[in-house]
Order: sequence, then C-alpha cells, then structure tokens
Amino acid sequence: MTRRRLIIDCDPGHDDFAAIALAATSVGLEIEAITTVCGNAPIERTTANALAIVGALGVPIPVYSGAVAPLLQRYEFPAAFHGVTGLDSVGATLPPPRQGVTPGHAALEIIARVNAAPGEITLVALGPMTNLALALALDPDVATKVRELVFMGGGLSGGNVTARAEFNVWADPEAAALVLRSGIKATMFGLDVTNRAWLDADDLARLKAAVAAPNPVSDIIQFYTERSGDVAAGRAPGPSLHDTCPVAWLVDPTLFETESLPVTVDTTGGPHYGATDADRRPWAPPHHQRIDVALELDQPRLARLVTDALIDVAKRIANQAQVAESLTRNALG
Ligand code: RIB
Ligand code: CA
Repeated sequence: MTRRRLIIDCDPGHDDFAAIALAATSVGLEIEAITTVCGNAPIERTTANALAIVGALGVPIPVYSGAVAPLLQRYEFPAAFHGVTGLDSVGATLPPPRQGVTPGHAALEIIARVNAAPGEITLVALGPMTNLALALALDPDVATKVRELVFMGGGLSGGNVTARAEFNVWADPEAAALVLRSGIKATMFGLDVTNRAWLDADDLARLKAAVAAPNPVSDIIQFYTERSGDVAAGRAPGPSLHDTCPVAWLVDPTLFETESLPVTVDTTGGPHYGATDADRRPWAPPHHQRIDVALELDQPRLARLVTDALIDVAKRIANQAQVAESLTRNALG
C-alpha cells in the first residue's frame, strides 16, 4: 500500500493532538512534517506542544515553526479552552520533547516539500491558515502542485468564536480567503460536522483504563472535556475533537458525506468577520472556487477510530516510561 504523504499544519491544541495521534497511528498515512502556527496559543507554545506530541509518538517527525501572528487580525488567545500552555491537563502531562524544532520557516518548508514532490503531498490544516497563505503568496503554483488540502475550519450553520465565525477561519480570515481563492483542491470540515465529532463517556472510560496511572493522554483530554462549552450546555456527551475530522476522512472517506459548494469568507471586518458562507442559489453569480464541504458524519465509527488512536499513544508513552525506568535500574546496578 502506498502511504499518503502528509504535512500537518496545526496549533496544538487538544484536538490537534488527537488528530496527529490518529494520523501517526494510521497505516495508510505518513506524516512527513509538522508545521506550527499561532492559533490556540502563541507560536512558542504551539511549537513546544507539537514537539512534545512527536516525542510521545516516539517517531522522528520534523517540526517547523511558522507564523507568529495572523496576516491582519489580532486577538486574545482562547486559554479558556486549551489552557495557558495550549495543551493543559488535569493531571499528568506529556513527557519532555526528545527533539528540538527543525530550522526553517513553516511556509518555506511547505513550498520546498510540495515542489520537491508535485502531486504527492496532502496538506492538513488544523489551525488558522496563515502559513498556507504565506506559502501561496510566495509561490502560487503550490495550489496546483499539492495533491490536495483538507482542513478543519469554518461552518455554514453558525460559529463558535462568534455567532457566525469558527475560530480557525476567524483568527485569520484573510489567510483563509486567499487559500480558498488559490484554486487549491480543498475539502472543508467545518462545525457542521466537527461539533458532532465527540467522544462519549464510554470512549473516555476506555481511554482512562488503557494504561495504569499516570495516563497523560487521558488527563489531557479530560481537561479539554471539562472546558467544553457544549458539554457544559448538555449539547454534547463529551469533547468535540474538531481537528480529527480531516484526518479521519483521509483514513476512511465513508465516515463523511460531502457536497461541492462555492464557499466564501467574510473579510469585511463587520459583525460577521471570519464567517464562511456557501451560496446555494442555482442562479448565484459565479463565485470563487467550489470546494467539497463535509455535511454529515458517522460519529460512533469516528469516535472509535479516534479513541483507539489515543489509546495507542497512551501505551507508547507508558512503554517509553518502562524502558527508561529499566535503563535507570540497570545503570544503577
Ligand atoms: O474551532 C475549532 C478549531 O479551533 C480547532 O482547530 C481547535 O484546535 C481550535 O484551533
Ligand atoms: Ca487546531
């Protein structure tokens, strides 16, 4: 089987962590590189979190740091949902990273890797699309040389950071608009489906029971669960792991139903700044490019896939700890 080659651009981020775990534990996917962006937390934090996640996976994936701020927008970091570190936990945390950041700006690395392998690289965007916009502004041919873009962002039936706008697009609407006008082949996983990409109590219990304490993976997801507005409002039985959706679609496209729609981004700066809209009128004027938009998902199958991936990572961390402990014992004699 030829493994699909990924560059994951992200702002870890609890659900980014779950998405990376799913990609890293899926046999049909290969993470070539991780690029980080300012989003859920400042770039220093999202990059440090990405390095810790790669260390927990136990595989050497290069991490490149990217944009320190959006193209125009400026905002307060949503520490309420992800904590001040961007990956806060109710208890145990991920082990310290095993590697440092790889030199080179994320946008330039995206350009270099896509040009080195035309038609081969799938871009997975899980945060504000600042790095992708910078790459496309510097080298517009990236849009036609990339295999495709799958991204978590937007929503056609309402927002989360404002009434109409979803956080990833709202945090850098100009970047999202540039990407969606670039001609890139894109599939959008917006709140229409990702709000329903939750784990339920059984999934969380299965994750918690997967390894003896300390179980940082369970504790990290528990933090995100306790900060979830949807859980608090009784609109979801557990945490919606938004960013897992684009990766899950790459693993098994039958998990979702998509529709080709002309999606635009509001960059006017008014009350709907960052909102994504799809003009479904048959007589709608020619719009920007059409993209595929996910509108339905199979939540139970998705939850099982994601929980299994998180359990895999929990066991990798536990095994690393056991190996370290036995090496220490042997060294002490
Ligand atoms: O709106 C959800 C998105 O915002 C996710 O990518 C989450 O990580 C946050 O960045
Ligand atoms: Ca994210």
